[in-house]
Amino acid sequence: MTHAVTPGGDGMVLHLVTRVIHWLTVMMLVGSFAIVWSIGWLPAGPARVQAVGLHRTIGMLVLVVTVLRLLWWLASQRTPRIGMSPWRWAAGVVHTALLCSLLITPLLGWTYTNARGHTLLLFGIRLPSLIFKDRYFARVAIETHEFMAYALLTLISAHVAAALWHHFVLHDATLKRMWRG
Ligand code: HEM
Ligand code: HEM
Repeated sequence: MTHAVTPGGDGMVLHLVTRVIHWLTVMMLVGSFAIVWSIGWLPAGPARVQAVGLHRTIGMLVLVVTVLRLLWWLASQRTPRIGMSPWRWAAGVVHTALLCSLLITPLLGWTYTNARGHTLLLFGIRLPSLIFKDRYFARVAIETHEFMAYALLTLISAHVAAALWHHFVLHDATLKRMWRG
């Protein structure tokens, strides 16, 4: 995948929108995982219900931001890369897989919520149901949701390792560009 560029850019400039969405997504994922992993330590009752609610809201924001990111990608000018190296290609595959997981994981969480018979509310707005109430589908949805969340973590690990490799071993500007443009 090539990058969003500033109008008239050379394809290597990472636009502010791309960078803001990138680091916002990172923060929301940290929050989402931290909440869901701490649920077990909370006393059963309203605290847990609130924590799951917060996990849902943050997860839905990840979905919204990822849809915006894809629209931004479609609307951006991009220059085709000629003679892409295998590493560039691998980075593109990982980026595409990350974006797909960022769509699929929250959609499965949404499906699970509906299959359990609940309507999803986002800041008071009722969202349409993706599926009818069904115990079997609810189980499949939550198990796939969990699987996708861990697939996402695996991709993130490879991605972060690559970013750190660029920064500390190759000493190039890949990470600095994601930070400063
Ligand atoms: C990218 C976004 C998301 C990530 C990374 C994520 C990740 C996770 C993880 C790791 C779990 C724990 C599974 C387990 O080990 O039991 C989980 C559970 C859950 N997720 Fe998500 N999730 C996301 C978005 C959503 C969304 C959008 C919803 C609903 C609208 C949702 C609803 C739930 C629910 C209801 C549970 C079960 C919580 C419980 O009762 O323990 N998730 N999620
Ligand atoms: C935690 C979740 C993360 C996700 C989901 C994610 C996702 C992505 C995606 C999809 C891209 C492609 C550009 C774009 O479309 O925005 C990208 C680029 C990049 N990310 Fe991340 N990222 C994450 C975390 C990180 C972290 C923690 C670092 C730094 C240690 C990092 C460093 C970079 C760099 C340097 C690039 C530019 C790579 C290049 O120029 O080819 N990312 N990331």
